[in-house]
Amino acid sequence: MKNSVHLNTKILGLIGHPLKHSYSPFIHNIAIDLKEIDYIYLPFDIPTSNLKNAVRGMIALGIRGFNVTIPHKENIIQFMSNVSEEASIIGAVNTVVNELGKLSGYNTDVNGILETLNPFKEEIFGNEISIIGAGGASRAVIYTLIRYFKPSKIFLVNRTEQRADSLKNYFQDKMKYNSFKTKELFPPDLVEVFRSSKLIVNATSVGMYPDVDDSITMLADSFAKGQIVFDLVYNPIQTNLLKLASSNGAIALDGLKMLVYQAAKSFELWTSETMPVEQVYKSLQLFLKV
Ligand SMILES: NC(=O)c1ccc[n+]([C@@H]2O[C@H](COP(=O)([O-])OP(=O)(O)OC[C@H]3O[C@@H](n4cnc5c(N)ncnc54)[C@H](OP(=O)(O)O)[C@@H]3O)[C@@H](O)[C@H]2O)c1
Repeated sequence: MKNSVHLNTKILGLIGHPLKHSYSPFIHNIAIDLKEIDYIYLPFDIPTSNLKNAVRGMIALGIRGFNVTIPHKENIIQFMSNVSEEASIIGAVNTVVNELGKLSGYNTDVNGILETLNPFKEEIFGNEISIIGAGGASRAVIYTLIRYFKPSKIFLVNRTEQRADSLKNYFQDKMKYNSFKTKELFPPDLVEVFRSSKLIVNATSVGMYPDVDDSITMLADSFAKGQIVFDLVYNPIQTNLLKLASSNGAIALDGLKMLVYQAAKSFELWTSETMPVEQVYKSLQLFLKV
C-alpha cells in the first residue's frame, strides 16, 4: 500500500465491535492509492458503551467520514443531523459523512444489493422470493427488493421466527407491503417454499468463516435451474449454499460484489470520487486468493 500521511490527510474509518475480518480497510485504502487522493482509512474498535464518546471524538478530530458495522448500525442514528430516506426506512446506517460537525447517515448496502441483482431484474421482478435472516443485512435486502423489484410475495425465514414476525410488521408499516409470509428456519419444511421462489437470499451469517461447513440447507431439491441464489456471505466466497445451488442448475451470486459496491458508494459520498471498482475487485480477489 502506498498510503502516506501528511498534515492535510483526510481520515476515513470504520467503527464496530468486535472488528474481526473486515475487508473495508483493504478496499478503501486500495481505492485511495489508485485514485492518488490524500486520504487514509482506519479501523476503530468501539464497544457499545463508548459509542457516544467515539462520535464526539470523530467530530472533534474532523474525521471526514466512517463506516458503521455491528453492533452500532441502529444506535448511530440518534447522533445524525440528517438520515437518507433509505437508511431511515431500513432503520440502519452503515455510512456517515461529517460536514463540519454535521453528520449525515446513509445505507449503502442498498447499492451493493442493487448492483448484484440488477443484471437479473427481468427474472426477479414481480415474482415470489425468499429471504433468510432477520438482522441488519436482511432489512437492507427487504427494503431494496420491495422498492425496486416489487415481489408478489416475500417468504421471510429466520431461526427465531419471532424476529421475522417483527420485521414483517415493521415493513408492513413502513413500506405498506402486505405480502409477507414468515417461516421458521427448518430446512425440510422449506423445500417447497424455496422451489416456488425465483430468488433466494441468504442474509444470515450461516456458512461464514470459520463455520464454513454450515449451510441454511443441505437439501439438494431446494434449488433448480431458473432460480437465483444470492448469499451475502463473502468469506468464503463459494459457500456450501452456493455450491449446492449451482450444482442444481441455479445461478449462484456471492457477497463480494455487494461488498465492493457498497464500499464504492460510501467512497463517493466521502470523497466525491468514483471508486475504480473493477481494479478494486481484482485486488480483493488477489488478496483473498480466489
Ligand atoms: N456482502 C456484503 O456486503 C454484506 C453486507 C452486510 C452483511 N453481510 C453479511 O450478512 C450476514 C448477516 O449480517 P447481519 O449484519 O444481518 O448480522 P445480524 O444482524 O447479526 O443477523 C444475523 C442473522 O443470522 C441468523 N443466524 C446467525 N447464526 C445462525 C445460525 N447458526 N443458524 C441460523 N441462523 C443464524 C440470525 O438469526 P436469529 O435472529 O435467530 O439470531 C439473524 O437472522 C453476515 O454474514 C454478514 O457478513 C454481507
